[in-house]
Amino acid sequence: KKPQNEIVPVYQVINGRKYPRILPRHILLDALNYTPEKGDIFIASYPKSGMTWMQHIVLLILNNGKQHQDHMEFIRKTPFLDAMGSQAIREMPKPGPIKTHFPFHLVPYSSEAKYIYVARNPKDNCVSYFHHHLMFPMYRFQNGTFNTFFELFVTGETISGDYFDNLMSWYPHRGDHNVLFVTYEEMKTNIREVVLKVAGFLHEECLEMLKADEELLQRILYYTSFDYMKKTVNRDLESFFKTNPLKFLMGSTPPGLRAGILNAIRLGDLKTPDKPNFIRKGIVGDWKNYMTEDQSKRLDEKFLKVTQGTDLPQLWKE
Ligand code: A3P
Repeated sequence: KKPQNEIVPVYQVINGRKYPRILPRHILLDALNYTPEKGDIFIASYPKSGMTWMQHIVLLILNNGKQHQDHMEFIRKTPFLDAMGSQAIREMPKPGPIKTHFPFHLVPYSSEAKYIYVARNPKDNCVSYFHHHLMFPMYRFQNGTFNTFFELFVTGETISGDYFDNLMSWYPHRGDHNVLFVTYEEMKTNIREVVLKVAGFLHEECLEMLKADEELLQRILYYTSFDYMKKTVNRDLESFFKTNPLKFLMGSTPPGLRAGILNAIRLGDLKTPDKPNFIRKGIVGDWKNYMTEDQSKRLDEKFLKVTQGTDLPQLWKE
């Protein structure tokens, strides 16, 4: 039985799936209709699986280790299709990584595009997503509890759909010629190998370049290390959120973002986190600090049922 006055996150439903309230409906529908171009590179994941980390890796490989200046440049170079729409993709410098949280059956697909999927074990994913909800005032969940969020997660009622649907939609494609399936945990244990694997997947020449230039590889590893990203990504986000939104409405802001800001103004949801802690803890096993034995057992049971016959339980034994 639900406790009285339970605080639940505020979402909206479009086409039967839950999304953040400020997401303009027409932008989402337009994003779903994007037709990929030959050579497009998508990074797909369930939210909080290590997407930002992978975006940085791909950007740095494609830009010879050169960093972007600020958050606006980052999202122009690696736009979020679902929230920014197809125009942002047409205007981005290519080749560049396109961020999406769509499951395989919704993602704009072409056999001539490439897809990197990042998966994270469900327990840490749940905890990270919980913190994400606490961080962004638009969810109106700042005083929400982990128990409430856990129930949403385990029953597939969170935004961007069910974690298990997302994972299991991509998993069968892990051997496809144009799909690279990577786990967060693999990135944690052997990031050097993952960077080389990603480079080879992007282009043989990218791999050759990194193999021939250890200094470049080291620079990429440094810029994508947890400590460096915690400092710079959180700082860039903080100054992005502090910018007067009217400035974005007047400048050459991607139309999806502009529509999102207008929507936020309309809904009274313009408040942004004061100190975004987007790059938060970055560890494997943080769930142990949050889940009760019963919650852990329930998520294990669901996970084992859904992933039966796959090697996923082997990947995430912990
Ligand atoms: P935690 O909340 O567990 O710390 P996404 O980018 O998909 O939203 O994922 C965010 C999660 O990835 C956060 O997890 C964040 O700390 C973690 N992360 C981001 N960059 C990382 C890095 N360089 N090393 C380890 N974890 C990283």
